[in-house]
Amino acid sequence: MSLVILDFGSQFTRLIARRFRELNAFSVILPGNASLEEIRSHQPLGIVLSGGPASVYDTDAPTPADGVMELELPILGICYGMQYLVHEGGGKVERIGTREYGKAVLESYSGDLFAGVIGEFVAWMSHSDTPTSLPKGYFVSASTSDTPVTGIENSHLKRYGIQFHPEVVHTPKGARLLENFLAICNITRDWTPAHILENLIADVKAKVGTDKVLLAVSGGVDSSTLALLLSKAIGSQLTAVFVDHGLLRLNERDEVETALRPLGDENLITLDTKTEFFAALEGVSEPEAKRKVIGREFIRAFEREARRLAGSGYRWLAQGTLYPDVIESAGGTGAANIKSHHNVGGLPDDLAFSLLEPFRTLFKDEVREIAKLLGLPEEIRTRHPFPGPGLGIRVLGEVTPEKVDILQRVDNIFISSLREFGLYHEVAQALAVLTPVQSVGVMGDYRTYSYLVALRAVTSADFMTADWARLPQDFLEVVANRIVNLVPEVNRVVYDITSKPPATIEWE
Ligand code: XMP
Repeated sequence: MSLVILDFGSQFTRLIARRFRELNAFSVILPGNASLEEIRSHQPLGIVLSGGPASVYDTDAPTPADGVMELELPILGICYGMQYLVHEGGGKVERIGTREYGKAVLESYSGDLFAGVIGEFVAWMSHSDTPTSLPKGYFVSASTSDTPVTGIENSHLKRYGIQFHPEVVHTPKGARLLENFLAICNITRDWTPAHILENLIADVKAKVGTDKVLLAVSGGVDSSTLALLLSKAIGSQLTAVFVDHGLLRLNERDEVETALRPLGDENLITLDTKTEFFAALEGVSEPEAKRKVIGREFIRAFEREARRLAGSGYRWLAQGTLYPDVIESAGGTGAANIKSHHNVGGLPDDLAFSLLEPFRTLFKDEVREIAKLLGLPEEIRTRHPFPGPGLGIRVLGEVTPEKVDILQRVDNIFISSLREFGLYHEVAQALAVLTPVQSVGVMGDYRTYSYLVALRAVTSADFMTADWARLPQDFLEVVANRIVNLVPEVNRVVYDITSKPPATIEWE
């Protein structure tokens, strides 16, 4: 039982799904033209028609597939979705000269969708078309001074349209409308972490039966949570393979192995591949070339193990693919599978696995909630992102075991000091970079000629853009002192004060 959101290309569609989930209701996003059959397979109790850039009177305007509007289900149309309800019902939609964009205050509102809303209603608009005559059975449920028809309702058919976006934070009371729509649809609000976990376990059990499952773990939240989930669902049918490429953080291997202890020693295989990785990285200093070598060696190591195990009948390869990856590729259609297959990272075709992706319907924060329920230690759950190529891209230039060893100690001092001073969660990501620069210093009576390290900490919402974190000067002083005193190979510490853009978060 779910709510189906048909996506007509709005940049906010994903946010609509998020909002419903925050109200503990399950929703799926399907392409605007998803077939009736596909929609029915989700057992919908209601349909949302999203916004989108098209105009309903365009000849190629996107529409729901045949039969969808005949389903006797409540429908909520947002922006383009509302205009479609008008157009489809026989009303008229026209371009209103100027585009209405941004904040507006409703002059009046009424009807079932607005039930229980009191006081001023601020709505966030983004449109240039507006209904000029309504289909039979509809009344105007909301208006602003600029847009007389901002909301419409057909109580008999349970069809509701709003011109503004209830899902964005700039419509502060928007959640109440979504909540009302859930009540109209009779959707049980039981999409809680505990319930999600219960469903995931049941689904995995049903799908996998008595087959064996292989999983590559990186130590990140998604793969570690998946390991714990699968272990709970299918116990010893799971084998998790942890590739230690020698580019991990100090003590990271121990932390991951401890976190995954519930799997049982025989179900977690740690591959020590340091020698192969460092040999492959010898003489490679160009950043993209390093990334490629690390990616290739990772696949090789995993492939060797998969081949060794293949003889013992592993049928499934589990992956921590998340919902945003699925939507990004194709809105949940067949094309999504093609992308996930590539996510496996180029395993050869003769290693024929079926993909098991239990998190395909979840957002990252939902996975974190589940991680908590499964007992994944907090340090791992709430850790800053760490790139797949690990410290390999934070040792600038050629990567050697000696340099990684230096960087591990520096990184550990920086990160543990951030935690000690209560600053770790104030920044989105913090890292240390070992530069190839050596400079002159003086320690005691001795001249030194040692490495320069750079510390970087950023604030960021999505890692696409970032600002340098204004860490307290006293804290930076303590960290710099600790580093030069405890890591003899380093005699100079600098702090990176560049934002992204123009710089990136990582240095390579
Ligand atoms: P940049 O350096 O591009 O990083 O500003 C943005 C975010 O992505 C992470 N990052 C990676 N993650 N594989 C990953 O899994 C990679 O090759 C990679 N490169 C960068 C980076 O740590 C930051 O969070």
